[in-house]
Amino acid sequence: MTTVPDFTRPEVLTALAGEWIVPVQGNAVISWDYDTRNERMVRLYGQGKQRQWNMSDELDWDHEVDPDNPLGLPDDFISIAHSDLWQRLPESERAVVRRHSCGWLYSQFLHAEQAALVGVGKILVAVDELDSKLYAATQIVDEARHVEGFNRFLHTKIGLRYGLSPSISAMFEHAMAEPRWDFAVLAAHILIENMGLATFGQHRERLMDPLARSFSAYVARDEARHVAFGRLLLRDYYTQLSEPEIREREDFVVEGCWALRDRYVDDDIWNVLGYGEEAVKAARRSPAKREFRRLVFMRIVPGLKEIGMFGPRVQEGLKRMGVLGFQDVDEVALRELDDKAAVEALTRNDLAARRRDIAQHVALGKAAEDGSAEGGPGAGKAPADAPAAP
Ligand SMILES: [Fe+2]
Ligand SMILES: [Fe+2]
Repeated sequence: MTTVPDFTRPEVLTALAGEWIVPVQGNAVISWDYDTRNERMVRLYGQGKQRQWNMSDELDWDHEVDPDNPLGLPDDFISIAHSDLWQRLPESERAVVRRHSCGWLYSQFLHAEQAALVGVGKILVAVDELDSKLYAATQIVDEARHVEGFNRFLHTKIGLRYGLSPSISAMFEHAMAEPRWDFAVLAAHILIENMGLATFGQHRERLMDPLARSFSAYVARDEARHVAFGRLLLRDYYTQLSEPEIREREDFVVEGCWALRDRYVDDDIWNVLGYGEEAVKAARRSPAKREFRRLVFMRIVPGLKEIGMFGPRVQEGLKRMGVLGFQDVDEVALRELDDKAAVEALTRNDLAARRRDIAQHVALGKAAEDGSAEGGPGAGKAPADAPAAP
C-alpha cells in the first residue's frame, strides 16, 4: 500500500458552477392540532430520536484507506471491468479507474444527501400533520450527518469530487417546483432512498474497506427509517386522491424509474479520464449496471406497491423496464435482513470502539508509569496497532 495522500481539498472534476438555484413552490403549514393523530408516526419519531449518532465519535476516521481504491470497491462494481478495454489496461491504470469510480460514486451520494436534506426541509414545511413534521425534523439531522460523512470521506480519503448525475438533478428540480408536497416524498423517499437503502446495504456487505463498510451500515439504518416515513406519509394519502391526480403521480414515478434505470450512468468518469466512447458504451452495457438495477428495483417496486402506486400504467412501465417481477419480493424479509445486518455491523463497531478505548487507557497508563503522561509523544493516543473497526 502506498502512502495516504494529504487531501486538503478534493480535486473538483465536474460540477455545476457556484450554487445550484432551484425554484421551490408550495405552502408552509402550521398545525394548531397538537394531539397525536398517527401512532405509527410517533413511534418512528421515537426511533429517529433514539438512534441518533455522531459521525466523528462512532467511526474510526484515523483509519488509512488504500489510496488506489479508497472504498475497497470489488472489481465487479467497476462498470468497465467486464470489457476488452479493461483487459488491455495496465494495473497502474486500473488503479486510477478504481479511485475515480470511488470518487464518482461517493460524489453522487454527497450531492444526493444534500438534495435530501433540502427536500425533507420542504416536506417538513408543507405537511399538515404535526406528528409528521416532528419525524421530518429527525430526518433532517440524519441527512446533515450523511452530508458530513460523505464530504469528509471525499475530502480526506478519496481526494476527488464529481458533479451530480443529471438523472437525479432533473428529478429533484421537478419535485421542488411542484407545489404538491407528495411529489417530493415520491422522489426522495420512494425512489432515491430505496435506491440508497439497497446500495448501502450492498456496500455494508461487499466493500473491502472497513471504514466505508461501517459508514454504510450506519447510513443504511438511517435510510431504512426514511423509507418507512415515506410509506407512512403516502399510503393513506393516496387513497384520498382522484383518478386524474393519481395518474399525474404515476407519470412522475414511471419517468423517475426510467431515469434511474437508463440515465444514472458514470459517463463523467470516462470523459474525465479521456477514455472516450468505447468506455462509455462498455459502461452502459455492464453487468455491474445490471446488478445495480436488480438491487435498486428490488426495493423500489415493492415500495410502489405498498403505497398503492401500482396501477396498470405503472405496471406497464415497470414491465417494459424488465423489473416488474420484483413485485413478488418478500419485502418484510428484506427489512428483517437489513435490521439484522445493521445490528451486527454496529455491534462489531461497538466492540472495536471498546477495544480502542481499552488500548487508549493501557497506553495512558503505560505513559504515566514511564513518567511521560503529560505531553509525551503518543500520550492519550491509541497504539498504532490498536484494532480498527471491522
Ligand atoms: Fe441520507
Ligand atoms: Fe435519507
